[in-house]
Parts: sequence; structure tokens; C-alpha cells
Amino acid sequence: MGENGAGKTTIVKLLTRLYDPDEGRITVDGIDLKDMRIEDIHAHIGVIFQDFIRYSLSARENIGVGRIDDQHDMERIEDAAERSPADQVIDKLPGGYDTQLGRLFNKGRDLSGGEWQKVAIARAYMRDADLIILDEPTAALDAKAEAEVFSWFKSLASGKTAVIISHRFSTVRMADRIPVLENGAILESGSHEQLLALRGRYAELFELQAAGYR
Ligand SMILES: Nc1ncnc2c1ncn2[C@@H]1O[C@H](COP(=O)(O)OP(=O)(O)OP(=O)(O)O)[C@@H](O)[C@H]1O
Ligand SMILES: [Mg+2]
Repeated sequence: MGENGAGKTTIVKLLTRLYDPDEGRITVDGIDLKDMRIEDIHAHIGVIFQDFIRYSLSARENIGVGRIDDQHDMERIEDAAERSPADQVIDKLPGGYDTQLGRLFNKGRDLSGGEWQKVAIARAYMRDADLIILDEPTAALDAKAEAEVFSWFKSLASGKTAVIISHRFSTVRMADRIPVLENGAILESGSHEQLLALRGRYAELFELQAAGYR
């Protein structure tokens, strides 16, 4: 976690090699990311970006693009949709999976922010990734939808390594390790309890958010 502009999304972009670091290096099991094939990295990482992409494609294609090799595998797509659960969104569409989404075409059907996110999560489910990253959207989701998304994310991430970026302490506190970022660097790191005991920035922000609800 960290304040706006602290560098959270940047770390995700570095991990997925959308950027390469100017200084230093990122290693996985001792191997520099730069020495790995980008396709191999992408095959093992499922990422749901904060500004996830709203493709002007059909609902089926919007999910299928999560795994290009299996983009026509309807069974896999339906399975991913059931788990996200984008199927609830798709059931309401006039043409089901063949409905054109987005506003680019006049017959296209635009979805709400939360509905788009379910589709984005289904896309991530298409991959059987070892590392799952969720960069939580800052807006668009109401409290209930956000709680739902988080519980789906938890099931998506079970038995895998997961990174979640969130401004909500109810979400963040469940992590095993919480690095607090500031100005592009890790300021403090630990479990929720450890960070509270430290009485540093995390504790300060936690108190601030808690006070707002009192
Ligand atoms: N390619 C780049 N080179 C240098 N700085 C950049 C680059 N891209 C973004 N930045 C800057 O890096 C900082 C961190 O941005 P980042 O998107 O990682 O923040 P964030 O922690 O995800 O914030 P938020 O909570 O608002 O999503 C910002 O000040 C941004 O303007
Ligand atoms: Mg961000």
C-alpha cells in the first residue's frame, strides 16, 4: 500500500516487464527478469490492472484474450466466467457471449465499472498463473462490489502467490506481508499487527481511516 503516486502500479509494470528498471534488477529465484522471455513471464503472471482494458470486442473475446492459445475454447471461457463471476453479467446481455461490448460501435453495450471488472477478472482466470496481481481500481466500485471482488480474488489466488494493491485496510490487513511505499521506496514492511506496533506511517494512516468511520 501507499499514497497516490507512491509507485505501486510502477512496481507491477516492472514485474510484468512493461518497463525495465533503469537501475538495479529484479530477480525470480535468482534469475534476472531481463534474462527471461517476456512470453514466459506473461504466461506465469495474471494481472488485473487498475485501469484494466475494456476491449471493444464481444464478451466471449474479452475473456478469451486472457489466454490467446485457448481464446476459442468455450468451455474454458465459461469456466472462467463462472468463477469471476462474469457469467452474471453475461446472462443479462441481449446476445450473451456474442454481445459486442464497449462504446466504440453503436451496437456495443457498455458495462458498469464493476461489471467490466468482473470481465477483467474472468480474463485473468483464463490463465493458470502462478503469480496473481490485482491493482485495485481507485473508483468505480461500491463497498459491496469491492468486498465481492476481493473474495473472488482470494479464491483465484488460493495456493498461488498474490500481490494486491489496495487503499482499504480491510483488504490490506489480510496480507502476510505489507510493504508500505513512499516516493518509490519501501518505507516499512510487515504484517498488519507488526506495522501497527511500529507506530509509523501505516499505523498513522490506519488511525486516520478508522477515525473516519467512528
Ligand atoms: N515511466 C515513468 N518514468 C518515471 N516516472 C513515472 C513513469 N510513469 C509514472 N511515473 C511517476 O511515478 C510515480 C508513481 O506512479 P504510480 O502509478 O506507480 O503510482 P501509484 O502508487 O500506483 O498511485 P495510485 O495510488 O494513484 O494508483 C508518479 O508520480 C508517476 O507520475
Ligand atoms: Mg496505481
